[in-house]
Amino acid sequence: MKKRVLSGIQPSGKLHIGNYFGMIKRMVEYQESSDLFCFIANLHSLTTLTDADEMKKLTLEAATDMLALGINPDKCHFWVQSDVPEVAELTWILSCLTPMGLMERAHSYKDKIAKGVQPNLGLFCYPALMTADILINQSEIVPVGKDQKQHVEMSRDIAIKFNNKFGETFVIPEPEIPEDIASIPGIDGQKMSKSYNNTIPIFDDESVIKKAVMGIVTDSKGVEEPKETKGSIIYELYKLFTSADELKSFKTSFEKGGMGYGDAKKTLLEKILDTFKPFREKRAELEANPKKVEDILNKGSEKVRKISLETLNKVREATGLKY
Ligand code: ADP
Ligand code: TRP
Repeated sequence: MKKRVLSGIQPSGKLHIGNYFGMIKRMVEYQESSDLFCFIANLHSLTTLTDADEMKKLTLEAATDMLALGINPDKCHFWVQSDVPEVAELTWILSCLTPMGLMERAHSYKDKIAKGVQPNLGLFCYPALMTADILINQSEIVPVGKDQKQHVEMSRDIAIKFNNKFGETFVIPEPEIPEDIASIPGIDGQKMSKSYNNTIPIFDDESVIKKAVMGIVTDSKGVEEPKETKGSIIYELYKLFTSADELKSFKTSFEKGGMGYGDAKKTLLEKILDTFKPFREKRAELEANPKKVEDILNKGSEKVRKISLETLNKVREATGLKY
C-alpha cells in the first residue's frame, strides 16, 4: 500500500523559491510514489486575511501556481480546504480534547503575539485546525518546513490522546523535514519568507526576479579575491538548482577567486529563469483558463469529502455524537 502523505499551503501571496524547494517540489515528487493529499489552506488564511476579494483571488492564484509547478490532479488529491467542511467539525471535536497549555506553547502563535498581531480565537486554535486536516485524511507522513514541525507534533499528541480515550481511530502522523532544505535563506540571509520581504518570487516579471537576485547580500570581496562558500547566500541558493558537477565547478571558481559576486549572481539568475521557464509558460496557459482550475478543484474536493466523511463518521461514533 502506498503511504498517505499530506501537506497544505496557505493562499497568502506570491510563491517564492523557499516555498518551491521547501514544500512544492517535494509534493510533486511524492505524487509519483505515494497517495498524496495536497490542499490550499484558506481556512488557515482567514485567521489573518479578512478581505473577501483578496481571499478569492489568492485562493485561485495559489491553486494555479501549484498546478503550474507540477501538481497533477490525476496523480493526487488536490482541493481547497473550505470545500470540505467536515474538517471544521473535526476541529471542534478535537479542540474539546486539547489542553489549553498545549496550544499556549505554540511557537508560531507566540511569535505572532510578540510581533504585535492582535490574536483572534482562530489564530489561537490554528494548530487544532491543522491537526484536523492531518487526521481527517489518516495521513501518515506530513512534509513541512522546520517552522511547522511543532504543529505536526501537536497533531501526534492529540491523535494519541483521542485514540487512548475513544479507541483506535486515527493514524499517528509523522513530520518529514529534510535537513538540507529545512530553511532556505532569503536575499538578506534570514529564512526566505513573505513576512521578511526577502524573497525571490517564482512567477513575477523577470525584472522583479532580477532585482531580487542582484540584491542578494554579500561581503565586499573584490573580483580576484578568493571567496568562502560557507555562509554565502548565493552559493546556498545556487546549490538548489544544479547538478553535483556544475556545483563543483561553481565552488572552485568561487574559492580560487576570479569570479566576482556580480557574475555569480548573473549565473544564479540564469539558472532560476531557466528552471522556472516551463512553469511560467504553464501558468500563463492556466491563467487564461480559470474555469479549468475551478473544475479541477471541484472534482478534487468531491473525492476528498468522501474520505473525510468516512473518518468523521468513525469519530462521531466513537465520541457518542451519533446517537
Ligand atoms: P512564508 O514564510 O513565506 O509565509 P509559508 O509559511 O506560507 O511561507 O510556507 C509555505 C510552505 O513553504 C511551508 O511548508 C513552509 O515550511 C515552506 N517554506 C516557506 N519558506 C521556506 C524556506 N525559506 N525554506 C524552506 N521551506 C520553506
Ligand atoms: N500551517 C501550514 C503553513 O502555514 C499550512 C497547513 C495547514 C498545513 N494545514 C496543514 C501543512 C496540514 C501541513 C499539514 O505552512
